[in-house]
Amino acid sequence: IRRMTEEAKRLAGCAAVDNHVKNNQALGIGSGSTIVHAVNRLAERVKQENLNIVCVPTSFQARQLILQNGLVLSDLDRHPELDVAIDGADEVDSELNLIKGGGGCLAQEKIVAGCAKSFIVIADYRKDSKNFGEQWKKGVPIEVIPMAYVPVIKALQSRFGGVAELRMAVSKAGPVVTDNGNFLLDWKFDKVHEWKAVNTEIKMIPGVVDTGLFINMAERVYFGMEDGTV
Ligand code: A5P
Repeated sequence: IRRMTEEAKRLAGCAAVDNHVKNNQALGIGSGSTIVHAVNRLAERVKQENLNIVCVPTSFQARQLILQNGLVLSDLDRHPELDVAIDGADEVDSELNLIKGGGGCLAQEKIVAGCAKSFIVIADYRKDSKNFGEQWKKGVPIEVIPMAYVPVIKALQSRFGGVAELRMAVSKAGPVVTDNGNFLLDWKFDKVHEWKAVNTEIKMIPGVVDTGLFINMAERVYFGMEDGTV
């Protein structure tokens, strides 16, 4: 199964790079395990076709990936308008809304995706869902300013139900700290919501930096399938 999902991720990543990357573009580079395959393919094409491409990362991990692959690193100061951003997702619903942030990088990911003319998503078949929560069981990640995490948990639970938890680190005692020095909540919702409205309301809670709900942002999603198709 692991080999099959890895191959599915690779196929999705290659399809996105082959169909959307052209010479003289500024690209947004997402985070997670699927984007690794897209960046490998990108590096291959840049070399073979001698492409002039600059890459803006969405995380520390993405920055490392860009550098390790010998690609040109840039930022939103120099390239506030990106041609294409490519990123993974934790779950995609039937309207191409996304849950992101399983890897903790949602705020920068949303900023970069928002700067791109095209936001292209790559994922394996396990992420393909009709309604949020059917595939992804870990809830909606929400980045919060550390001092506000308890009030935000209380507000989430009383207004929208479900349970919100502070994400704890695995190899350190204490909470996960994001690339922005913030904490993460995982809000396990208990019903299907009107996600656009809920996303806006959550963003209005003081202390919330951003949510892992990416509503109406993805232009296209490539799913690598079990049978080797995309
Ligand atoms: C990072 O915080 C996430 O938003 C990732 O983009 C998402 O979790 C996809 O990761 P994988 O490609 O590892 O599934």
